[in-house]
Amino acid sequence: MKRNILITGGAGFIGSHVVRLFVNKYPDYHIFNLDKLTYAGNLANLKDIEDRTNYTFIKADIADLDMMRSVISDNRIDGIIHLAAESHVDRSIKDPFTFARTNVMGTLALLQAAKEYWESLPEKFEGKLFYHISTDEVYGALELTHPEGVPAPFSTKASAGEHEAYGSEFFLETTKYNPHSPYSASKASSDHFVRAYHDTYGMPTLVTNCSNNYGPYQFPEKLIPLFINNIRHGKPLPVYGKGENVRDWLFVEDHARAIDTIFHDGKVAETYNIGGFNEWKNIDLIRVVIKTVDRLLGNPEGHSDHLITYVTDRLGHDMRYAIDSRKLQRELGWEPSLQFEEGIEKTVRWYLDNQDWMDNITSGDYERYYDDMYKNR
Ligand code: NAD
Ligand code: DAU
Repeated sequence: MKRNILITGGAGFIGSHVVRLFVNKYPDYHIFNLDKLTYAGNLANLKDIEDRTNYTFIKADIADLDMMRSVISDNRIDGIIHLAAESHVDRSIKDPFTFARTNVMGTLALLQAAKEYWESLPEKFEGKLFYHISTDEVYGALELTHPEGVPAPFSTKASAGEHEAYGSEFFLETTKYNPHSPYSASKASSDHFVRAYHDTYGMPTLVTNCSNNYGPYQFPEKLIPLFINNIRHGKPLPVYGKGENVRDWLFVEDHARAIDTIFHDGKVAETYNIGGFNEWKNIDLIRVVIKTVDRLLGNPEGHSDHLITYVTDRLGHDMRYAIDSRKLQRELGWEPSLQFEEGIEKTVRWYLDNQDWMDNITSGDYERYYDDMYKNR
């Protein structure tokens, strides 16, 4: 079936994996990648598919309502996968307004433009979908409930049942929103607007909330690529607080596959949580990253351990995120394809094999930005 799909934020980390998957897998679809190309957007992420006949790049700002109106109507868009956002928590602490502008007002502009265009068609909302990509951070933070002595990583490969046996709590689709950072507050607000467009106007929408992604093409302000690059250069690894915060990590291609499944088979107006049941305490994850980088660079074990540097904690640092993704597994049959060990090996190898990509990004303004973040935290 021919379709015109608009993917926003497709030049970013997750968006580029989604664009690549759709362009390759669906030759009958035309994929429009709309991105403002902020510091986080990089067309080099899509070099391998940029010449495909079913792919078009559009440089635009989602907060520009008139522009969104023309992009959606001129290209007869019938499906939207919305990833464009400001995505880094530390930046949101320094500059919350940019997050409100893009994540809230930008999402609203896109919703309104889609609604106006779809309502103008004879078939109206029939066969249309606005799919909004959100985060587990909207649910707030969980306690560390595991007893002492559970080996780190304390949940890798453990089933949800095993977690529950330890008294763990998880974020469910029904968990009440309780965002803490300006980033998560802006994402929560955009999620509410998306649901309001369904409940008020009957627009077909869907929301998914995913845990931390890792993999190729992630901007090196986020933990894993930042640390891989710093180890390579023998630079300090700034661990916030005591390194005890816990995140649930999912390989980015597994998230892209989940998005594909949900876009095609998900039920309108539903929410699906996406996660890997793969929780790691930051410091344990960091030790795995150091070990893997050292091994692949041919350094002796322990060579880069001294780079670990404990620094002032992130303001309002959420202690633990943990997603229960069993609804998605049960209803749509999706599950993560990679074990973490395999995913992290693949990821470290990719960054070491693609040093030009990293060097291009980390030249120029990056150093100044990074020094600012580090000094002022
Ligand atoms: P990213 O920062 O790597 O990419 C964001 C992209 O959006 C960039 O290409 C940027 O240029 C573009 N963009 C920013 N502002 C824009 C605007 N005003 N108009 C048009 N384009 C704009 O982000 P990411 O990590 O790939 O995250 C993508 C989405 O997934 C976000 O909505 C984020 O909240 C969500 N998410 C991310 C994670 C994660 O671990 N990275 C986890 C769950 C959900
Ligand atoms: O949970 C999903 C979210 O995951 C996404 O919605 C966000 O867009 C994405 O950025 C990510 O948010 P986090 O804040 O969890 O990711 P980050 O890589 O910034 O940090 C991961 C953990 O590591 C967090 O506990 C903070 C810590 N950290 C991070 C950096 C950059 C450090 O200790 N040192 C660092 O230098």
